[in-house]
Amino acid sequence: MKRIGVFTSGGDSPGMNAAIRAVVRTATYHGLEVYGIMRGFSGMIKGEFVRLDSASVSNTVQKGGTILKSARSQKFMTKEGRQQAFDQLVNNGIEGLVAIGGNGTFTGAMIFEEEFGIPTVGAPGTIDNDLYGTDYTIGYDTAVNTALDCIDKIRDTADSHDRCFFVEVMGRDSGYIAIPCAIGGGAEIVMIPETQMSVDVVVDTLQTGWKRSKTSFIVIVAEGEEEGNATNVAARVKEAIPQLDTRVTVIGHIQRGGSPTAADRLLGSQIGIAAVEGLMNGMRNVMAGIVDKKLVYTPFTDTINKKKLINQSFMRMVEILSV
Ligand code: F6P
Repeated sequence: MKRIGVFTSGGDSPGMNAAIRAVVRTATYHGLEVYGIMRGFSGMIKGEFVRLDSASVSNTVQKGGTILKSARSQKFMTKEGRQQAFDQLVNNGIEGLVAIGGNGTFTGAMIFEEEFGIPTVGAPGTIDNDLYGTDYTIGYDTAVNTALDCIDKIRDTADSHDRCFFVEVMGRDSGYIAIPCAIGGGAEIVMIPETQMSVDVVVDTLQTGWKRSKTSFIVIVAEGEEEGNATNVAARVKEAIPQLDTRVTVIGHIQRGGSPTAADRLLGSQIGIAAVEGLMNGMRNVMAGIVDKKLVYTPFTDTINKKKLINQSFMRMVEILSV
């Protein structure tokens, strides 16, 4: 293998640049050429390739977002789109790929490999931390810290005004972001898709707190929560407890931006190196991840189909700590 491509796809996450930098420098270290593919699969179809060398990734490790930009491509979901992408790679002599993204990215890469035989190693880049095969995803730590910073500020005003805030955090179908936000942010309640907490339980918990002379409350609602979004849950609680002064804050895309934490820079760098060395060692259709502090390569089929379970003891922690 002489030339590889690297791209970011799906939602961006802080630390993606550290991973790109590590891919470029590892390839250079081993004498491989690297091309950056702009805007994920969409840029692959259009042939948006940029030659990257060591200097191209200087001064990027601390930057949020992704210097390669990111997109979600409908066209790559068609055979015709994938054929165009393959032709572009062949015309540019690209023989292997490092895909930085989440499950959607790995699903596309796996189908592409099965059809056209281009080997791909994945790097888990998403704030959601919902990927089987790694304890943490690149960007998760930063996103949690960003959300916590917002929650700390919300708590100040909640306390001043004796209010109950319903704070919606990202995470797609998982509660991985919500849990540390609740524990670290001192929330009374956390609602996540993995547990079936009804609005009635939320109402009971708030009323119990009220009786214990609590005057302000924080309820963290994961965006994928099945009972509804934060606005919806807040409206139902208000109906049950009219005297409660409620407000809703959706933290939103702030969680996706910002300078990566040390943990995310380190993880992005480790995984970037592992991805290139995996490709060089003949790996394909696997994601590089860190499990129990050890580097592991997990087949895309597992990262896509297996669910990373949330430790239920975290829910108990929220209950105990909010007494
Ligand atoms: O996967 C990352 C993520 O930020 C999710 O937490 C969220 O559900 C989604 O992406 C938002 O996507 P978009 O940026 O397309 O609105």
